Amino acid sequence: MNTLDALFSRKSIRTYNGENISEEQLRIILKAANSSPVGRALFDTLHISVITNKEYLNKWEDYCEEMTSHRPFYGAPAVILVSSLIPSDDLKSVNVNFSNAAILVQNMAIAATELGIGSCHIWGAVRLLNDNKDLLKELCLPEGMIPCCAIILGQTDEKYELRDIPENKISTNFIE
Ligand SMILES: Cc1cc2nc3c(=O)[nH]c(=O)nc-3n(C[C@H](O)[C@H](O)[C@H](O)COP(=O)(O)O)c2cc1C
Repeated sequence: MNTLDALFSRKSIRTYNGENISEEQLRIILKAANSSPVGRALFDTLHISVITNKEYLNKWEDYCEEMTSHRPFYGAPAVILVSSLIPSDDLKSVNVNFSNAAILVQNMAIAATELGIGSCHIWGAVRLLNDNKDLLKELCLPEGMIPCCAIILGQTDEKYELRDIPENKISTNFIE
């Protein structure tokens, strides 16, 4: 797949067949995250947690279900969580810190498409995670790291095909 085909066929996958991704696929996905651009090259302001521990994922999903009546991982066997140092004393610059994390996740989503692995961005469960001290503690995050966003990954029986993407889906204007 070339890059544009991967971009134009990526979609959120919410059906998984329970099979995990291989170590080699995980290595490529993490390499895609590590190839992301990061504001001012401050790579140390980010942290990646690869979570495949079923017990932990169940606890996290149980908590989400309790709060929202929704299990957020759709049976995906892996969640990669991206955390970032969010400076509380410089609120005008936090867009960079959140954007860094989102870009890592999007790079992983494109890599997953190329590999034929199912993926979906997951933000709702991360918001809830930040309210649960016990779940946070088990992640052993480096000091000051705040979970920002995540991606679920797993094998799927769905196929990627080029999608019909309306070019006006997102409001656009031109300042010429
Ligand atoms: C910032 C962000 C947060 C998202 N959070 C969730 C989520 O928590 N759960 C979910 O199922 N999908 C989530 N999605 C996926 C969107 O619902 C999805 O991208 C959108 O419906 C468009 O569909 P597509 O990805 O198939 O093009 C999120 C996407 C983004 C970019």
